[in-house]
Amino acid sequence: MKILVTGGTGYIGSHTCVELLNEGYEVVIIDNLYNSKIETVDYIEKITGKKVKFYKDDCCDKEALRKIFKENKIDAVIHFAGYKAVGESVKLPLNYYHNNLGSAIILCEVMKEFNCKNIIFSSSATVYGNSKRVPFKETYKLSTTNPYGTTKMFIERILTDLHISDEDWNVVLLRYFNPIGAHPSGLIGEDPNGIPNNLMPYVVKVATGELECLSIFGNDYPTKDGTGVRDYIHVVDLAVGHVKALEKIQKDNGLFIYNLGTGEGYSVLDIVNTFERVNKVKVNHKFAPRRKGDIATCLADPSKAEKELNFKATRTLEEMCRDAYNYAVKNR
Ligand code: NAD
Ligand code: UFG
Repeated sequence: MKILVTGGTGYIGSHTCVELLNEGYEVVIIDNLYNSKIETVDYIEKITGKKVKFYKDDCCDKEALRKIFKENKIDAVIHFAGYKAVGESVKLPLNYYHNNLGSAIILCEVMKEFNCKNIIFSSSATVYGNSKRVPFKETYKLSTTNPYGTTKMFIERILTDLHISDEDWNVVLLRYFNPIGAHPSGLIGEDPNGIPNNLMPYVVKVATGELECLSIFGNDYPTKDGTGVRDYIHVVDLAVGHVKALEKIQKDNGLFIYNLGTGEGYSVLDIVNTFERVNKVKVNHKFAPRRKGDIATCLADPSKAEKELNFKATRTLEEMCRDAYNYAVKNR
């Protein structure tokens, strides 16, 4: 099978390309390199010993997408491309709606034109909004707290409507929890530009001395140590989840929604302490006020993916911390 991976040179996309190639799928990537580097293509090929076809194009460009579908017989699409910074989306909502919704709609139009009706979409735990009932189940009512989250909710809705309009569309909505870590080779990983918004990239930059001190946002949450609790999942496990989703739509037709997480919660202090212990480095940190919009605990109920996809995340927090640091050290 030939899979079109949009956003395939990005953080999660690149790891997914590796797992797809390892499983014998052919991979075509479209990425405009807005938030990734062309070298990633070489690294994917180096890790797997296989070739990928790369198009430096924008998913909002219909003609470019048509060209890709004309030149390649695409069997399914995994749609990662999009903007993802929560804070930025509050300041630049139109950019987020334009890029995230625009690319999803145009992509589906072209898929329909070429009679390719299999799509796996990168959604997020952010669609559970401020829900206080943890762990989150796929059946919970959705709500969002920022434009980024709203784009995810809207695209889920668009793909659902598409499936309702024509049951030949097979759709998998994957709600990721907190992906961290990197490929153990140290060749691909997460390397955000500027000052990171997310915890793990920030911890890494403090450990390597690029940033001075981690601010821990809040130590008065109703959690075991007062700091925020999240469901961290190794990015390689997350990538494997996409292969499982592809297997699912080869077996069964329909619309499917799955959480991809571990079901296990770790606090900010757990992350700092584990990172220090595993990598034998110091992570300077201090407590700071809560970050606006954060919730105390965000945890997946991963049982549906386990039951229906036979997917279970197996990599430990130690591996997540080790691989994140290994990637940073190799790429300084
Ligand atoms: P990323 O920024 O590393 O990857 C996204 C890729 O898409 C980048 O390479 C970027 O250049 C590309 N891109 C953006 N807009 C494009 C466009 N219009 N046309 C072509 N390419 C475009 O992000 P990631 O962490 O790998 O996330 C991948 C997907 O998963 C995103 O949709 C994101 O919203 C979603 N997601 C990520 C997380 C997370 O914590 N990383 C959590 C939940 C969901
Ligand atoms: N945190 C700090 N200091 C920092 C950064 C984060 O203490 O410098 C804390 C946060 O307060 C939170 C935890 O670390 O308690 C995790 O924060 P992240 O920013 O790494 O992740 P979030 O859970 O806030 O958000 C992530 C993605 C969102 C996505 C969400 C759910 O950034 O896009 O997971 O999937 F919607």
